[in-house]
Amino acid sequence: MYVELDRESDLPLYLQISNQIRQRISAGDLPAGTKLPPERRMAAMLGVNRTTIVSAYRELAADGLVEGHVGRGTVVADPDSDATGAHGTFQIPWNQLFTSTTEVMNDPLLRDTTMISSRSDVISLATGIPSPELYPIELIRSLLDEALHSGGQTLLQHCPTEGYGPLRAALGRWMAVEERPIDPASVLIVAGSQQGLYLLARTLLDPGDLVVIESPTYLGALQVFRAAGARLLPIPIDASGMRVGLLEDLIARRRPKLIYTLPSFQNPSGGTMSFDRRRRLLELAERFRIPIIEDDPYSVLRYEGVPLPTLHALDQRGTVIYLSTLSKILFPGFRIGWIAGPQPVIKRLALMKQIVDLDTNPLAQWAVWALLDRGHLLEHVDELRSIYPYRRDLMLDALNRHCQGLLDWNRPLGGFYIWAHLRDGLRTRDLLPEAARFGVSVAPGESFHPDGEGESTLRLNFTLPAPEDIDEAVRRLAAAISSLRGSRGADDRQLQETATPIV
Ligand SMILES: Cc1ncc(COP(=O)(O)O)c(C=O)c1O
Repeated sequence: MYVELDRESDLPLYLQISNQIRQRISAGDLPAGTKLPPERRMAAMLGVNRTTIVSAYRELAADGLVEGHVGRGTVVADPDSDATGAHGTFQIPWNQLFTSTTEVMNDPLLRDTTMISSRSDVISLATGIPSPELYPIELIRSLLDEALHSGGQTLLQHCPTEGYGPLRAALGRWMAVEERPIDPASVLIVAGSQQGLYLLARTLLDPGDLVVIESPTYLGALQVFRAAGARLLPIPIDASGMRVGLLEDLIARRRPKLIYTLPSFQNPSGGTMSFDRRRRLLELAERFRIPIIEDDPYSVLRYEGVPLPTLHALDQRGTVIYLSTLSKILFPGFRIGWIAGPQPVIKRLALMKQIVDLDTNPLAQWAVWALLDRGHLLEHVDELRSIYPYRRDLMLDALNRHCQGLLDWNRPLGGFYIWAHLRDGLRTRDLLPEAARFGVSVAPGESFHPDGEGESTLRLNFTLPAPEDIDEAVRRLAAAISSLRGSRGADDRQLQETATPIV
């Protein structure tokens, strides 16, 4: 539940909260029956007193917008329960009109995390983006100036749906294996790899199709596959990536339509699939003729060890559809990603893209082409490869200092994330409000699992927080875990309340 507070404002905090919830109810964002977070949990997430939340909920109840139920907490009232509705106006019953697709987006844990992370007094370890102070802003400004001077009239029109030709070729060279560049006709430019995933799902999946995924996996892919009506077949991962040994039997019995994998510095686990498993996965996919989607935003961000070939580089028979993005090695705001794969697939995806958005921003495509063509992107990635391992090590040192006995964690060789487990069966969903109280946020690992597993897991991002904040963030995390452990021992009833899922 996202609520933004202005602590400088003259408007009391409880009214800011009730006003924003009121707006969300009338906008249809909080349908009838939605449970508001329990008062104690909401107070912890917003960093206010519990009485502030009690007053805010009372305001809403006085207007008939919410109702208190013993055992169920505070629930949004049904506006259609009388002729004009409890909201005082006759309303279209929006909730009955929404497609079931939109329901898959409704992850209360993630909403809580977003709200906590947006607080100015919270250090966020939850978000997975590159460090903004490393964005090459001056360079981008001069490139955009140049583009507008020399090609503004063209670059502000539409461009081919498949993408700006020189950028397709430059990305083909960027991915070159042993000097063999990829044919530009095999590359489709997309508005971020999230769009790539959406296009792939719309093009390859019918409702009911089975998709093999890693567990845990990228949550944006979980949402896309669920929205397409796919059924998910989770395969656990270990320190060498997807447990490919479990796959053969599953494929033979269930005949999935697709395999989705993140072999390099996986989001969320930071882990990497071994060379041997890459080969075995590809062999299996070839034998059973099942396409693999390889989602690979992070492989170039290797900080140590020997680089492994991508599945796409190993693929000789057109089994792998490769997906990557500029979001992690440059910044996410340009929304530029790409898909490389067999040309019939690229052509079909382009038809689907035409329906979705016609084409991807040509000005941004031109700027990315210039960055690639003039060698700036490689220089920038080299800079990231020298800075991020330092931040990773700061976080690992801080974990060693503060979290021994509370957490177990891994040591990723690249990418953005450290993956951790709470000890003694503590649940991350219970930790979130406690962490908010101490001023830190983490990504709940449960949201990256397809099946409610991973309750004790959490993802820690080390690229976004400023280096000087990393130790303090981990210290706060340790304090929050200790406090949660204490409260579990002291007051089981309270744990029960903070553990209640919110909608
Ligand atoms: C594995 C993976 N795939 C796709 C994306 C989406 O990236 P983009 O910004 O290109 O849409 C992300 C971003 O977090 C990611 O981690």
